[in-house]
Amino acid sequence: MTIHVKNNVHWVGQRDWEIQEFHGTEFKMTKGTSYNSYLIREEKTVLIDTVDHRFSYQFLQNLEMEIDLNTIDYIVINHAEEDHAGALAALLERIPNTPIYCTEAAIDSIVGHHHHPEWNFNTVKTGDSLDIGNGKQLVFVESPMLHWPDSMMTYLTGDAILFSNDAFGQHYCDEHLFNDEVDQAELMEQCLRYYSNILTPFSNLVIAKIKEVLSFNLPVDMIATSHGIVWRDNPVQIIEKYLQWADDYQEDRITIFYDSMSNNTRMMADAIAQGIHDVDPGVAVKVFNVARQDKNEILAQVFRSKGILVGSSTMNNVMMPKVAGMLEEITGLRFKQKKAGAFGSYGWNGGAVDRIHSRLTDAGFETVAGLKSKWRPDGKAMRICRAHGQQVAKQWALHELNVPPMIIEDADVQPLSVAVPVAKTAVATQEAHGDDCQCMICTVCNWVYDPAIGEPNQGVEPGTTWSDVPDYFLCPDCNLGKDVFVAHNR
Ligand code: FEO
Repeated sequence: MTIHVKNNVHWVGQRDWEIQEFHGTEFKMTKGTSYNSYLIREEKTVLIDTVDHRFSYQFLQNLEMEIDLNTIDYIVINHAEEDHAGALAALLERIPNTPIYCTEAAIDSIVGHHHHPEWNFNTVKTGDSLDIGNGKQLVFVESPMLHWPDSMMTYLTGDAILFSNDAFGQHYCDEHLFNDEVDQAELMEQCLRYYSNILTPFSNLVIAKIKEVLSFNLPVDMIATSHGIVWRDNPVQIIEKYLQWADDYQEDRITIFYDSMSNNTRMMADAIAQGIHDVDPGVAVKVFNVARQDKNEILAQVFRSKGILVGSSTMNNVMMPKVAGMLEEITGLRFKQKKAGAFGSYGWNGGAVDRIHSRLTDAGFETVAGLKSKWRPDGKAMRICRAHGQQVAKQWALHELNVPPMIIEDADVQPLSVAVPVAKTAVATQEAHGDDCQCMICTVCNWVYDPAIGEPNQGVEPGTTWSDVPDYFLCPDCNLGKDVFVAHNR
């Protein structure tokens, strides 16, 4: 099946209504997905991306109903991940010498996955173009880490279509192809879920890349993503959304998540949420049990929040494993400008709250004192939890509050808040990278360039200031250039 996109461009992709998990089991899909491949027929015939390897047979069958495969002049691979380049092996078995246009990093990934170094690879860089006849060209724009180091976008002149691959996409399946044809609330929910769970760590790169693309002053009539819909109605809307989301996005929202062995930590969560609402009815509060609810929805809510409260029962003097796993994900997503606090019920020691507090601090959250409650919270303890919620709401308020008399002012109740010391690692980091620190940190992988040490493996001697580090320098861990580094102490 094909769908007409514009002029001589057709969608030749694959819908996947039944998929539920992506990246192993890490990303739960609630609305399926699609693998969008596009066929351009000008004087030259070009295939942009393929589909997931599980659909290779179906993909070729569909394509052959539309064209003779031997008429394909060029294949453009915007991204080597198997959901886009997966059908390459089956396709190139049929048309083995067809030129493939991709980034240098993509060759490494494609060969690594398919083990065919003999394929006819043609490396492209930002600004390179390919003439496809009828006065039209394909212009390539590298977009590293959106979503892998190899990623790029391809722009079709004349039709003004940007084939953006993962960027601006969403895991969303619908029989309609265009953004103006589908349920708008569903669409934007899936866009945000995709951005928050996958692209958040690369927000600095998102802003830089969008500014770079805009600086070319190219008209954009459509953005043809590689997952979900094609943006044809006001495509700028998703660019504007990305700029908003990449800029340390937050709403007046607090997310509470926890795991609870005996329902006691859950009781605390409910009372804290009530306390927040007492003081600031305008703030949105959402409460989740990480053991029972959709992890990716919780992460999307964290992305939208100004602050989070994380609870766990203490088990063997540590937090419950699902909370630990969630904190590991949150650390990797590198949220910025958010606040956080820990809470939890315990029996004979309360190590979970201390550990959560440390982990949140290390992950870059501005932390408030934690709250512990021994055994099952009784009436007084529940009032203290509610008072803790009120304190947090006041402390995190984004606007003036008209605060009524509160439980917190009850003379009989002393909040159980525990002033948990800031983690030693965080203190050490702050001392090592104080105001006069000259270190630079990679915003993608957190590798730190210390001028005192330099990077001898790339010929950068100890004592070399960042401004003197040559432009060819690459981050030793993620291979990206100087432009993804920022001052460590900023
Ligand atoms: Fe849709 Fe990064 O693959």
